[in-house]
Order: sequence, then structure tokens, then C-alpha cells
Amino acid sequence: MITIIYRESFLTVTEKEQFEEQLSLEIRFCIDLSGHILECNKKGQAFVERFGHDFLKFFSDLYVDEAQNFLNAIKESDDIVTALLHDQLNELGLGTLYNGFTKNGKIILVGFHTQILARLTGEFVHELRNPLTIIKGFLQLSNYTKEYEKYHPVILSEIERMHTILDNFLTMSLRKCTYKKMNPNELCKQLVALLSAECTVNHVAFDYDIAYTENHCNVDLDKVKQVVINLLRNAMEAFEIKNNENKIILRGSVEDRGYRFSLIDNGPGMDREVLKRLGQPLYTTKSKGTGIGISLCKKIIAEHRGTFCVSSVPRKGTTVSFYLPFVSPAV
Ligand SMILES: Nc1ncnc2c1ncn2[C@@H]1O[C@H](COP(=O)(O)OP(=O)(O)OP(=O)(O)O)[C@@H](O)[C@H]1O
Ligand SMILES: [Mg+2]
Repeated sequence: MITIIYRESFLTVTEKEQFEEQLSLEIRFCIDLSGHILECNKKGQAFVERFGHDFLKFFSDLYVDEAQNFLNAIKESDDIVTALLHDQLNELGLGTLYNGFTKNGKIILVGFHTQILARLTGEFVHELRNPLTIIKGFLQLSNYTKEYEKYHPVILSEIERMHTILDNFLTMSLRKCTYKKMNPNELCKQLVALLSAECTVNHVAFDYDIAYTENHCNVDLDKVKQVVINLLRNAMEAFEIKNNENKIILRGSVEDRGYRFSLIDNGPGMDREVLKRLGQPLYTTKSKGTGIGISLCKKIIAEHRGTFCVSSVPRKGTTVSFYLPFVSPAV
């Protein structure tokens, strides 16, 4: 496996984008709603020559359901749906990251070849080294000064960061969802506990507004928590000036056939350009970002057969929400 490691400190965001473009082996398909390939680019041609014009034939029996679920999710969503699929041309076995959406009654699929993921491995190794170095340094310091209390919060927050990085990486490459029926109010209760603790530690005000329902959704609790942690981290990182006017709200609302969970922040918001590119794998505006957070959230919510939505007003704030369908029709 080729692993390319580069150091962020030597690359600006634009340079990083150019670098990604050179590495990108984008595979494009235009298919009809039944999965028949109508058009493709040169990279896609390799698949068609080997497996024919049916998109589902790109997958072995083991992974064909995953691919079918992906196509179904695209058809049901108005948004871009992301999935990591294990097609048969994937020699490294890491999967190809597909973004799919419908346009004029056809499905457009854009795949990012495993090179990107192989590079991500290198990037994660690099990303993990930073917090590890900090933890090591602070432990040595606390041992030397015997002022453990003083260094404790930094060490803990660096360990937290490592957790998020590892969880994101694992979810992107391996883990499958395991669902349990759950009442959205029960889920909100758990999210409130998680969010209020994080907000207290970071000196950010927190509030919630949860609508009552007796219905249930199919939920992989760990993964939905991972979505909310990523959204929370984004909101925290977006607050430019750290003061006690920073606020995060969790809103739970009942919709036609499902429940919507929204995380609202009063941070600086995003301009059109950022909003347009949001959710593209590896898109980040941060010098220390991996640009995996939102695309991972979209993937997890798509796997839950839900939808993901972002709205933002510059200088006012951002609302990121996801909708999970009820398992039985709403009453
Ligand atoms: N709540 C928010 N407020 C303002 N900008 C946001 C918010 N959430 C996301 N963004 C913007 O969207 C970009 C992509 O977010 P994403 O979570 O995918 O990647 P990242 O945060 O840059 O890196 P990573 O999450 O992998 O560490 C961010 O770089 C940031 O510019
Ligand atoms: Mg993020």
C-alpha cells in the first residue's frame, strides 16, 4: 500500500487542494434509476469493460446489498448521499468513496479511488502524532512540576481529539451500523447529556427544545453520537472569539414521517462557496482539519435512511440538521 505523508505546516489550504486534485482518481457514472450505466468517464470505462453496464455487477455477492441500499438512499434523498462501497476493482480492499445524487431523473455517481483513502491513512498517522506529542510533553511536565491538575484538561482534550480521529477513520473504513429501535426523545436525552457536558467544559452556553413523540426510529446510537460530536466540534471550532455569548441549541422536531434533530450555533456561519463544497470528502477550510467530518455524518445518516441538511447565514450562525424516519407510520 502506498502511503503518502505530508506535513500541513508546509502546505497552505490552496496548495493542499491542488495536491488532492493531482492525487484524485475520480470515477464518474451517469446511470438510470434501475442502475444501468448510460455514460461514464475514462476511469469508469475500466469497470464497464470488465463487468458490463449494470452498476450492481461491480460488486460481489457480499457487498451488492450495500450498493443497492446506496442507490435506494439516493433515489429517496434530495441531497448528495455518500457511501464507502467495496467494488471488485478495489485491489487495496479499502473501498471507493461514492457521492451520488439524482438529476433530471438520472443518478450521477462520483467515486474517489482508494488512493485518497490510502493517503488518509498517512494523514491520520500524522494527525495522531500531534496530540500524542502534546500528551507526552504535558505528562513529562506534570511529573517534573508535580502540578498534575494544571495539565490535566489539556491532556484530556488531546485524548478526546484522538478518539474522534480514530472513530472517524474506523467508521469510514470498516464499521457497519447495528440498529436498535429507539424513541427520539430518549435519544435526545442522551444527546443533551453529551452536549451539555462538552459545552460546560468549553464555556459555551447550551439550551435545548425537544418536541414530544411516541414514535420510534432505527438508531445506531454510537454512530448518531459520532455525528453529533462531529457537528459539535465544528460549531466549537467555528466560534472565532471565545466568549460567553457563544451558544449551541439542540432542537428536536416532529415531522411528517420522522424526527428532525438540529444543532444550531450562533457562530460566524459559512459563505456560499463553503456551503457548496461542504460534504465533499477532504474539503476543509481549517489548517488542522481533515475535511472528513461532514462527509462522514452524511454517510452515517444515509445509512440510517435519513437526510442531512445544512443552512447557514454569514455572521449569524449555522444550523445542521438530520432527519431520521419513524419505523412505523407517524400517528
Ligand atoms: N458550524 C459551522 N460553522 C461554520 N463553518 C462550518 C461549520 N461546520 C462546518 N463548517 C465548515 O465546513 C468545513 C468542513 O467541515 P468538516 O467537519 O467536514 O471538516 P473539518 O471540520 O474541516 O475537518 P475534520 O472534521 O475532519 O476535523 C469546515 O472546514 C468549516 O469551514
Ligand atoms: Mg469537522
